[in-house]
Amino acid sequence: MLSESITQTRPHRLCVAPMLDWTDRHCRYFLRLISRRARLYTEMVTTGALLHGDRDRLLEFHPRENPLALQLGGSDPRELVECARIAEGRGFDEVNLNVGCPSDRVQRGRFGACLMAEPRLVAECVAALQAAVSIPVTVKSRIGVDERDSYEELAEFVATVAAAGCGTFIIHARKAWLKGLSPKENREIPPLRYDVAERIKGDFPELKIILNGGIPDLDQAKRHLARFDGVMLGRAAYHNPYLLAEADRQLFGDTHPIPSRHEILEEWLPYVSAELARGTRLHAMTRHVLGLFHGRPGGRAWRRQLGERAIKPGADLTVLTDAAALCRPRGPEGLFPGTPAQAQAGGREINLVQEAEETGD
Ligand SMILES: Cc1cc2nc3c(=O)[nH]c(=O)nc-3n(C[C@H](O)[C@H](O)[C@H](O)COP(=O)(O)O)c2cc1C
Repeated sequence: MLSESITQTRPHRLCVAPMLDWTDRHCRYFLRLISRRARLYTEMVTTGALLHGDRDRLLEFHPRENPLALQLGGSDPRELVECARIAEGRGFDEVNLNVGCPSDRVQRGRFGACLMAEPRLVAECVAALQAAVSIPVTVKSRIGVDERDSYEELAEFVATVAAAGCGTFIIHARKAWLKGLSPKENREIPPLRYDVAERIKGDFPELKIILNGGIPDLDQAKRHLARFDGVMLGRAAYHNPYLLAEADRQLFGDTHPIPSRHEILEEWLPYVSAELARGTRLHAMTRHVLGLFHGRPGGRAWRRQLGERAIKPGADLTVLTDAAALCRPRGPEGLFPGTPAQAQAGGREINLVQEAEETGD
């Protein structure tokens, strides 16, 4: 099958970025309902947290989330190895080392973006990881850090780490300033330099280079795929998750029907219900789906309803079903009317006109 072979030969063709506080297990489960193929990443987990903290909570995931990578923050080879072995044992498909996070906390721990200035230490970590686990070990980096931002320094970093056994680099194509910019500013202010990432791909054609940073949609993603081995989307996928719905067809050649937003919600409900029964608060889950109706009729009301009602003690599934009804295309009644079959039965043409008029949420 075409799609199966693409997933095997180009497992990083489409990735959703690791994002602290965002890509937790609830978010990832939800994204998986939208795309079966996208490779998902956990939030960064530090080796210290994993070895000394609530490991089960930090590593919990649903088997449906695979393919799934664990992103580690750390720079002690022995600790990283211990964490990677645990991750492999629990069914993660990849261990990714964070060499891009610029936060103060991370710098104090001597990991994240400041490691770009220490290629030999990163190489030591990668070599130890490669020897310890059989799942792929990858690195997510910037293109430079502080004054260490020449192409030659980046190429030296890549060459050194690749020689230690890393075959896949995810490159967030902007540098990081460790002093003076907040992590958020470091995702916005340093200019994007896709040309630099492209030059790396040209100089290291045997490596898999995955482009990250500022990719807004699948059209752009497809354009980059002509030059890179994969793309990683972060904020765009979080704020407008339904953009992933076309990905399996467009990027992987799948032929399964594209689920509607309402179908995705319907499929999500049993998960939410089971989590509520375990004591998870509704808001912990619904906060990740606020963007589902981004730019659609009712999208604002959806966000407002969930924002206001899901935080209340005892909030249950009716908050979701009520909010979904606000985004309901006109059509036959039902829990989530507007699924393709129902749309065909009536109301679809009206919906399209209405949707075109009301976009821009
Ligand atoms: C809220 C938030 C948290 C993030 N946390 C992490 C993280 O834990 N590890 C990491 O490597 N990058 C992290 N990033 C950076 C993203 O992975 C990505 O590199 C960056 O957002 C650029 O991609 P984008 O323009 O597609 O969003 C974070 C980004 C955001 C917005």
